[in-house]
Amino acid sequence: MRVLFVASECYPLIKTGGLADVAGALPLALAGLDCDVRVLMPAYPSVLGHLADTEEVAAYPDLFGGPARLLAGRTTDGLKVLALDAAHLYDRPGNPYLGPDGNDWWDNVRRFAALSAIGAAVGRFGVSDWKPDVVHGHDWQAGLVAPYLVAGPAEGRPKTVFTIHNVAFQGICGRADFDTFGLPPSFYTPAGLEYYGYCSFLKAGLVFSDRLTTVSPTYARELRTTEFGFGMEGVLNERADVLSGIVNGIDTAVWDPSTDPLIPAQYGPRKMAGKAACKTELQNRMGLRVDPDAPLMIVVSRLTGQKGLDMLLPNIGDIVRRGGQVAILGAGEHGMERAFVEAAAAHPGAVAVHIGYSEPLSHAMQAGADAILVPSRFEPCGLTQLYALRYGTIPVVARTGGLADTVVDANDAAIRAGIATGIQFAPVTAGGLGFALERLFELYRNKKVWRALQARAMAHPVGWEDSAPDYVSLYRDLMAEGV
Ligand code: ADP
Ligand code: GLC
Repeated sequence: MRVLFVASECYPLIKTGGLADVAGALPLALAGLDCDVRVLMPAYPSVLGHLADTEEVAAYPDLFGGPARLLAGRTTDGLKVLALDAAHLYDRPGNPYLGPDGNDWWDNVRRFAALSAIGAAVGRFGVSDWKPDVVHGHDWQAGLVAPYLVAGPAEGRPKTVFTIHNVAFQGICGRADFDTFGLPPSFYTPAGLEYYGYCSFLKAGLVFSDRLTTVSPTYARELRTTEFGFGMEGVLNERADVLSGIVNGIDTAVWDPSTDPLIPAQYGPRKMAGKAACKTELQNRMGLRVDPDAPLMIVVSRLTGQKGLDMLLPNIGDIVRRGGQVAILGAGEHGMERAFVEAAAAHPGAVAVHIGYSEPLSHAMQAGADAILVPSRFEPCGLTQLYALRYGTIPVVARTGGLADTVVDANDAAIRAGIATGIQFAPVTAGGLGFALERLFELYRNKKVWRALQARAMAHPVGWEDSAPDYVSLYRDLMAEGV
């Protein structure tokens, strides 16, 4: 089976969040299940810099105002990539979505309409004798793939799957932009991609794709409510019969404490001494007091409202008073960045902050920490709690979305049954987090229980072994439907 992924970011070529990890790891897992996957993405400078064996497979003289070509290449892991090289759209360094002033690029809708248009073209006509059976788009940036395909004849059209990684990003633009996309004006209706007087790429994907998925079963249910649907709950309820939730996995080769080259000492469930060494190193590196017995909690996150880290701020004083430590790696809203920098200044040796994005430091933190805090207000899946489980770092998570689906709360029954892997809390408030932290300190003091939690966490399956086959079944079911 041949599948074309369309995504705006993909690890290890460019990454701002979990979407990149999924777009990079899932195709490799699918390859082991007889799926030939290629990932279509923009050829940002870092993509061109990392791809090997590139070869031009198509050229487009005028793609939204400039020439473009499609380069086939592969990453060192063997991921097959189709990079859309269009200098006028993508030859911009740094964050793929934001300009130097920190705001969205003015022409983002044009940039991703172009990506979607080429996704549809490759879907319909193929490249170099390779034509996909299924085109699988990810998030709003790929939202127009399905309408472009539906605008053409049914004959020769591949099946389409659209995955919501985050419903909060909707790709909204005006009618004037829509008129430049070359889509039938009849699509601009409330039953189509019109959204309260605007055009929404996300809604387009939801309305026109054959199947919809999101990245955990709980989020698939939450999405249909006004609390979590961000205005898309109506469309999602209408299409509930084709919507499903498939929980994300992680690349267990990249995230493996027994081989990870980015951590100071490797370790595994049966030889945990390395984890203690990683903790000492991390305390040193972050300027924390070196103390093997101080529970060390980390945060590795975008600092935005979604992630709920403002709820951590009022709890920091208590954590420090109880002898705990907090290390934060993150970037995002300036107010939150500043608040964490101030918290670190107020608690030297106990709270440390690194504002910025660092893949190597994120590995060192997962390895050196005792616990990770993920108090998200909503979380479609979440990947950092999955890395944490694998590294024997106990997740403390809000009971929402994929966090609820991947962490088994250490209540008494679960501890006795030997199945607990972390702490879940609700309500998702600063007080709720405070109670969860109290429970964390209590568990940490009981070394026997703590070690059992760590062992169970590390044994929890976090790879793609369960979910990749679910995608294959979905693709198969779709193909069995015929034209
Ligand atoms: P989201 O995609 O909503 O940001 P996920 O938990 O799915 O949340 O994925 C976030 C990914 O980005 C993880 O791989 C995490 O380690 C990484 N990440 C987030 N912030 C940083 C940072 N400041 N430095 C390094 N990695 C980060
Ligand atoms: C989004 C979500 C996150 C999810 C990731 C990958 O960025 O916010 O919860 O893990 O996509 O699917």
